Amino acid sequence: MKNIVLIGFMGVGKGSVARAIVKRTTMMALDTDDVIESMENRSVKEIFAQEGEAYFRFLERRTARWLKKKVEGTIISTGGGFFKVPAMKKIGTVILLNAPFDTIYERILAHPDAEKKLKKRPLFQDIEKARALYEERLPEYLKVADMVIDVSDKDVDTIAKEIIKKGKKR
Ligand code: S3P
Repeated sequence: MKNIVLIGFMGVGKGSVARAIVKRTTMMALDTDDVIESMENRSVKEIFAQEGEAYFRFLERRTARWLKKKVEGTIISTGGGFFKVPAMKKIGTVILLNAPFDTIYERILAHPDAEKKLKKRPLFQDIEKARALYEERLPEYLKVADMVIDVSDKDVDTIAKEIIKKGKKR
């Protein structure tokens, strides 16, 4: 059974959607940032600060190789830049969760843990830089996605149901 791979910008809700799918199916989920953090025994923020972004991207490529070879039937949520690993589509069916940048940012701010959510993301420290990164990545996300879900006005359960329904039709 193929994996489902959730891609999309920071804060769009990839992890929450993965957890909602787990609740409704027998699938298990994993998150590439979690895999990297446990492998390194330190946070993404620490890896960026202590080793730099290039090393983090190397760890993402290493994780991608493992996913391709060893993981199946799993719902995989990914860090916002993970989609750049080579042969991404070989990992599974790629689903882009997307919303306009301002919607994503407003949602993060509305969250009770907003400060924590922003602090742990090294590439979301400057809002204009984050916006530019979103603009740069959007066409690239669209290119790699097998399916695109606009999550702007949807709650997590609705999105999860949509993905499960589409999965059954395949
Ligand atoms: C990144 C997104 C983060 C994390 C790292 C880099 C990115 O994951 O992998 O901070 O390049 O967009 P989330 O998308 O879960 O925030």
